[in-house]
Amino acid sequence: MKVIKTKPEMQAVSEKIKKDGKSIGLVPTMGYLHDGHVSLIKRSKKDCDYTVLTVFVNPTQFGPDEDFNKYPRDFNRDSKIAENEGVDYIFNPDTGEMYSENHSTYVNVEKLDKIMCGKFRPVHFKGVCTIVLKLFNIINPDAVFFGKKDYQQLAIIKKMVEDLDVCVEIAGCETVREPDGLALSSRNKYLTKEERENAIILYKTILFAENEIKNSRKNLPEIKKECIEKLSSNKFVKKIDYFDLRDPENLKEIKKIKSGTNSMLIASAVYIGETRLIDNKVVLL
Ligand code: PAJ
Repeated sequence: MKVIKTKPEMQAVSEKIKKDGKSIGLVPTMGYLHDGHVSLIKRSKKDCDYTVLTVFVNPTQFGPDEDFNKYPRDFNRDSKIAENEGVDYIFNPDTGEMYSENHSTYVNVEKLDKIMCGKFRPVHFKGVCTIVLKLFNIINPDAVFFGKKDYQQLAIIKKMVEDLDVCVEIAGCETVREPDGLALSSRNKYLTKEERENAIILYKTILFAENEIKNSRKNLPEIKKECIEKLSSNKFVKKIDYFDLRDPENLKEIKKIKSGTNSMLIASAVYIGETRLIDNKVVLL
């Protein structure tokens, strides 16, 4: 496995692979790897000849009051995990390599970036799309692997690729969870022992909503209200950004189940103490 720090070196490696007629799988991450990231690496290894992992904590996707500075970083640990998994190259540029001082071009996927997480993190998806498109341009992957845990991110990237005619396959991979159901996340590290025990309320409430939607004759606003009450009643839940029922395809809100409604995205973002966690599930009806 080789660690690459600069764009020209990364571009040269990619060009050579392509010239040899081989495929490149890309797994973009901000590091502090866990089994969710590893599942993406495994999928890339299965589908592509070469796997490039990127480890870059992207400043433009963090708001001014967010956790960019304290975001967990441990490159030595990440590179050991990556090597064990058979990653071929880690692209690990520093901030200056990716953003020149006069960087001024950004990618906005309009509308989809204003709802759900976008409503509470106004610059987030602009930063994500910009860095992801830059990585696509540098690495020229055949396929890129994203987790469904960040469902809105995946939907927005698919839209960007479609709208901007980017020639790449976007693969969505299932959410990897702890044995009790908590979705793996680099931010879980922030949780105290008690917060960690209580964080499961997020997935539990999503499962409760799924069950109610599948079995009950209650209307959707009523189910949503009960879920918000359930979350609020846990004293470790400090804030609920949203608990939404949406169309998994276009992320439009579903207020009523109609004859054509055959699936629904249940998605939520809450603060457990100071830590913002997100989770979701697609329910087939
Ligand atoms: P990061 O949070 O490090 O996540 C990298 C990839 O891992 C994303 O595609 C994310 O959806 C996936 N992932 C995270 N937790 C997962 C889990 N429990 N199960 C399955 N996949 C999981 O998402 C980002 O970084 C950044 O926004 C990035 C796309 C790298 C752009 O900076």
